[in-house]
Amino acid sequence: MSSDEGMQRVFSGIQPDGELHLGNYLGAVRHWVGLQESYRCFFCIVDLHAMTLPWDPAALSETTLKTGALLLACGVDPARSILFVQSEVGEHPELAWVLSCVARMGELRRMVQFKEKSKGETESVGVGLFTYPVLQAADVLLYRAHAVPVGEDQRQHIELMRDLAVRFNSTFGDTFTVPQPLISPAGARIMSLDEPTQKMSKSSPRPGSKILLVDSPDTILKKVRSAVTDSGREVAAGDDKPALTNLLTIFSVVDGTDVPAVERRFAGSGYGAFKTALAEALIERLAPIRNRYGDLLADPAETRRLLSAGAARAAEVAGPTMDEVRARTGLVPRRSSGAAGVP
Ligand code: TYM
Repeated sequence: MSSDEGMQRVFSGIQPDGELHLGNYLGAVRHWVGLQESYRCFFCIVDLHAMTLPWDPAALSETTLKTGALLLACGVDPARSILFVQSEVGEHPELAWVLSCVARMGELRRMVQFKEKSKGETESVGVGLFTYPVLQAADVLLYRAHAVPVGEDQRQHIELMRDLAVRFNSTFGDTFTVPQPLISPAGARIMSLDEPTQKMSKSSPRPGSKILLVDSPDTILKKVRSAVTDSGREVAAGDDKPALTNLLTIFSVVDGTDVPAVERRFAGSGYGAFKTALAEALIERLAPIRNRYGDLLADPAETRRLLSAGAARAAEVAGPTMDEVRARTGLVPRRSSGAAGVP
């Protein structure tokens, strides 16, 4: 038995569907790194989720590995946390099937991300896009995670997984922990630099919309300088100033202060000086990540090895949960499990 057996558990995931950006980092990954101190953490590169929109097989396997390297570069520590690729642990789709028999069409139809991603074409998108949140529920429930650190856009998916856990438990007996969302308000919704009413997104084709974690200092400077601003001259946040509010939020999170303190610091400075200071703060914060990432890319076999070792450890937790689910729902035991039935 490992020494962290009594710790609360955290699970979170990220799709390898593009390059990680500042929103992913400020909204989620920086919290993952901090939580490793006090929780037993499971961090998952959810490649099965990345198949829910049309994908390129070669790009998927490459981005999966690169996402692993980038998470390591951000400070996810495989000595303390379990970092793995979702498709390497077969219990994820297995539990997702069982949960899809517990979930209801109506509750999946209400998912905002499904509505956004299907762009109204609900008859022609893949079924996987519709059942996406059920697989996400399986990810978390398999590890009986207590907390799920994510950005604001994932709140509805976590509410659904809570509902599924409660429904499963009351129908088949107490099996799953009901997880809590862990959404830190600062940085939970970072917006696009060129369109501040839309969230910063991996899938945006516009390079100027986002800062990538691997952008060079020059690129960061250029992107911040060309970020749209609001009318007026004051460096001030407000409901009528979505662009400045977003830039001030980014500055405050990176600097570890609050928005009013940043406003005071740049009072009367004008947008130019503020943007230069923001770019410098970002360059300083992201430089160590970019450097470590470069080192890790030089040895992809080592990242591959770490991810496979993570998957083996994840399976040690996921397997017994799935054995219990099988027993409680009347499925026969797995051939290799040796499980006897409901404990
Ligand atoms: P994904 O890959 O879209 O995003 C990964 C994490 O980054 C957060 N995030 C943001 N935070 C702030 N501002 C933004 N602009 C921004 N964009 C993204 C997301 O909230 C997320 O925390 N469905 C998930 C992946 C997933 C998952 C899970 C998460 C699959 N299984 C189980 C938690 C638990 C997703 O698409 O994340």
